[in-house]
Amino acid sequence: MAKTNADPKKVLFTETVLRDANQSLIATRLKYSEFKDILPTMDKAGYYSVECWGGAVFDVCLRYLDEDPWQRLRDLRKNLPHTKLQMLLRGQNLLGYKHYPDEIVKMFVQKSVENGIDIIRIFDALNDLRNIEVATTAAIKAGATVSGTLSYTQSPVHTLQKFAKLAKEMEDMGVATICVKDMAGVMTPKEAYDLIGAIKAEVKIPVVLHTHCTTGMAYLTYMKAIEAGVDIIDTATSCFSGGTSQPATETLNYALKQFGYETGLDDAVLKQVNDFFKPIRDAYIKDGALNPKMMATDTDALNYKVPGGMLSNLVSQLKAQNAMDRFEEVLIETPKVRKDLGYPPLVTPMSQMVGVQATSNVLAGERYKNISKEVKAYCRGEYGTAPAPIDPEVLKKALGDEKPIEGRYADTLEPVFEKTKAELAGTAKSDEDVLSYILFPQVTEKYFAARKAKEEKIVKYTITPVEE
Ligand code: CO
Repeated sequence: MAKTNADPKKVLFTETVLRDANQSLIATRLKYSEFKDILPTMDKAGYYSVECWGGAVFDVCLRYLDEDPWQRLRDLRKNLPHTKLQMLLRGQNLLGYKHYPDEIVKMFVQKSVENGIDIIRIFDALNDLRNIEVATTAAIKAGATVSGTLSYTQSPVHTLQKFAKLAKEMEDMGVATICVKDMAGVMTPKEAYDLIGAIKAEVKIPVVLHTHCTTGMAYLTYMKAIEAGVDIIDTATSCFSGGTSQPATETLNYALKQFGYETGLDDAVLKQVNDFFKPIRDAYIKDGALNPKMMATDTDALNYKVPGGMLSNLVSQLKAQNAMDRFEEVLIETPKVRKDLGYPPLVTPMSQMVGVQATSNVLAGERYKNISKEVKAYCRGEYGTAPAPIDPEVLKKALGDEKPIEGRYADTLEPVFEKTKAELAGTAKSDEDVLSYILFPQVTEKYFAARKAKEEKIVKYTITPVEE
């Protein structure tokens, strides 16, 4: 089952400093202007790919950085001409937080590839493959390499057989690689060894592993995954590694080479990349945007079986309600709610939904007295099929006599592109602009206004000397 020492020893690296490390440590606040000078160097490092777009990058560019995410992508493409640019896509949710009509999914994927993306990692929080199918087919058609992605979680229904079967179904859909995505950083070395082995036995295509250092296990987890035959791992340049981020690129490269693995990485270039990002990291620590705690090991997630990011959300929810004395009760309630809801993986948006429900169940003094509209939508089947059946009593409380939807939620959504484009005539300058607006209407509207103000200012300055 596992790869033996006699097999060719090759492990490839995806560098995450521009996306996941950036997102996990400093809430995706890296500006393009901060890292653009290192791109020509990164282009020579020998990475399998650079993860640089998607996830929260798109939203944050528009919301906080006054940057057009499409322009960032085109600039990345120009300055990393020999490197595969990789993005993360939440299936039918694209980069937003709700489901979009198929028309928008196809167009968004097509435009991402046109503007420079090579590899699209596509996942669904519930592992409901109907939610990744349209994006996958569109991406393959557009010429992208698709990495079919499994959202990793532990539960009685998430067995090795179940994950291996999902991987096989993705391979049959035509994806080029399978990625096991441990968003919460909870995968143990043993689980990695068993799971990667089970998937490698089922599929012929390369397998990727993604994890986070949060609980301190990631290096061991990668090592055992490599022993089981994993082909590609996600790492971050060392000064942006550790804690809630990925393991360090240089460290794993050094260790693996000593074992005789070929990594394709250039040690001298890796050092230059790290030296470039060090003062940037230090500046973020100094201004408080990067809390050094984020880079340390926190084993609470192992004790509570709740991902690290979710724990900090629970704490801030309870603090806001002056109810920190109920923390232990909420922690005991959280896995119960998850079980009631059919064991959804605790990733966005499920982690928020389960956390809020658990808090409400404890503070209201009665379970499911209040149910959020998101949990109701989940029960209705709008997010896809739950991994296990939802508890019938909870379903009844959430929906009353209403029946869950049959089929796929996106099938009920009307096309919106042409209508939105017409509404934005004069404001949107491209189809990409229209797509940004469809994903994040308020945020993009604000961005358009700021862009217009900036342009008028530029025009005024260039005109002034002529007038004088
Ligand atoms: Co991640």
